[in-house]
Amino acid sequence: MIINSLGTLVRKLLLMKPRVVFVLGGPGAGKGTQCVNIVKKYGYTHLSAGDLLRAERSKEGTKYGELIDSYIKEGNIVPVEITIDLIKRAMDETMAEDATRNKFLIDGFPRNTDNLDGWNKKMDNDADVKFVLFFDCSNEICIERCLERGKVSGRTDDNIKSLQKRIQTYMQSTKPIIEQYEKEGKVRRVDGAKSVDEVFDEVQKIFDAEN
Ligand code: C5P
Ligand code: MG
Repeated sequence: MIINSLGTLVRKLLLMKPRVVFVLGGPGAGKGTQCVNIVKKYGYTHLSAGDLLRAERSKEGTKYGELIDSYIKEGNIVPVEITIDLIKRAMDETMAEDATRNKFLIDGFPRNTDNLDGWNKKMDNDADVKFVLFFDCSNEICIERCLERGKVSGRTDDNIKSLQKRIQTYMQSTKPIIEQYEKEGKVRRVDGAKSVDEVFDEVQKIFDAEN
């Protein structure tokens, strides 16, 4: 009896191991926009590393506020110790509320080798990375979209000076991570330059094939 229910429990826990899709692409490539669509259709929980960092920055009494603020303005990548804790906490909170909510879109992560090392050290045994959804979009379109967004976003980094640095960080630090996953056959590429609806058509094909 006890052994039986223990077996059920173990099976449940195994089944409920978090399933993660990393979402990558340049600033303005459409990561956040498409994640909203994916959440609606496929029941994932969307965790944006950038959003988590911005929320942490705005919290009262946080010791990392100024640090995060300057990294974001400069388009640099915040040390992973900070980011991974925010991601882990958000995942834990989601699953504590409802253990069946184990599908996560982690958007804007891992953005460099420090991010990837931090994930491997802290999370790799506790979550399965299913694939990397990559929104491929030219730097020109990315910049144009972010400048447009900057008119209303209130973000401190949607201006041309920060954007040039963000693009540089993307090219130097994030692209190699995507290439690394590519070699492992884990990248699902989408043309991010198309319209929101057209991109979502492509995204659906990917998720329908994976699920
Ligand atoms: O993804 P998003 O454009 O919201 O990220 C905004 C900024 O947040 C990045 O340019 C970077 O400064 C910071 N960030 C980070 N590490 C991540 C994701 C975002 O430092 N993994
Ligand atoms: Mg975003």
